This record gives sequence, structure tokens and C-alpha cells, in this order.
Amino acid sequence: MKNIVLVGMMGSGKSTLSHLLCQKTGYVIVDTDELIEKDSQISISEIFELYGEAHFRGLETSLLKHLEVENSIISTGGGMVILDENRNYLKGLGTVFYLKGSITTLMSRLTDQTDHRPLLSKNELKKQLETLLNTREDLYSDVADYTIHIDGKTADDIISEIYTILSDLDYKFIK
Ligand code: S3P
Repeated sequence: MKNIVLVGMMGSGKSTLSHLLCQKTGYVIVDTDELIEKDSQISISEIFELYGEAHFRGLETSLLKHLEVENSIISTGGGMVILDENRNYLKGLGTVFYLKGSITTLMSRLTDQTDHRPLLSKNELKKQLETLLNTREDLYSDVADYTIHIDGKTADDIISEIYTILSDLDYKFIK
């Protein structure tokens, strides 16, 4: 299927980039976190608090399993790659881009944004990000067709890179 799939850590810019890609390509945004919140009628923080992380991961799998979309930009939650099953679904959905950033870049974007993120806290942000990235780095690389380095680049730089790759792959855009 010819969708655009964005994976990467919290703070890697998946949401911002999916909005810019939407403007540039005319593709529709499918944000997995938003869909889960909509279906559950509660926030992700509340899902973690009430039912735990494993339950949330199950919701992510179930969403991917039933996702039948075309011409879409699929913006995934940072932990979507953890389960083997999820990575297989993602690979089947389209071209997967790993937005790869250093801990310094991720930290600079997340410092004031830990409140609604169940796996992060302001005081231990660096350590938490390092632990998550250590366990996930290989999984992001495994699922990705392309790794896009985000450090020191503007959103426009990154969008151009992705757009060029997709054009070479013969993606037909709506805009
Ligand atoms: C998570 C990332 C979040 C959200 C949840 C768990 C993670 O999404 O799915 O809080 O495990 O990295 P974003 O990466 O869009 O912030």
C-alpha cells in the first residue's frame, strides 16, 4: 500500500512533519495516538494509568491490524515498533521513515512537554530517553525503509528529503 509511515521517538517531530506532509502531498493524516484516544474516549495518560502500558500496546496492535487506508500519512506513537507484530503491520502499510534524532535534540523538544507523556518525567528526562532509545533503536532501524536524520535540520529540510524519496518511488500525490 502506498502510505507514508512515520516512526521515531517522542519528540522526533512525527506530528509536525505529518501536518507539513499533508499540506504538500494532499494525503490524509492517520495519527495512531489520536485514533486510540478517540476510540477509548480517554487520554493516553489515562489509559496508561487505568489499564497499564501492556493494554495500550494491545490497542496499538488492534488498530494497525484493522487499518485499511490509502494515500495516508500514518503518524505512529513512539512505542509502536516494540511488538514484532506491529512492525510487520507497519511494513505492510507503506514506506516507513525513521525520524532519527540524538538525545540532545529529543530533550530540547520535550523538556516542557512531559506532563501528558506517561513514560517521561521532567526530572529524569535524559535517563528515560536514553533507556527508551537504547531498547528501541534497533527496532526503528529494523522497520524503516529509510532513516532520516533530523539533528540540525529544519522541518522543511526533512520534508524535502522525504518528498524526494517518495517521488523517486513513484508515489502519486493528490496536490
Ligand atoms: C509513547 C509515545 C507517545 C504515546 C505514548 C507512548 C512511547 O506518542 O504513544 O505516550 O512509548 O514512546 P508520541 O511518540 O507521538 O509522543
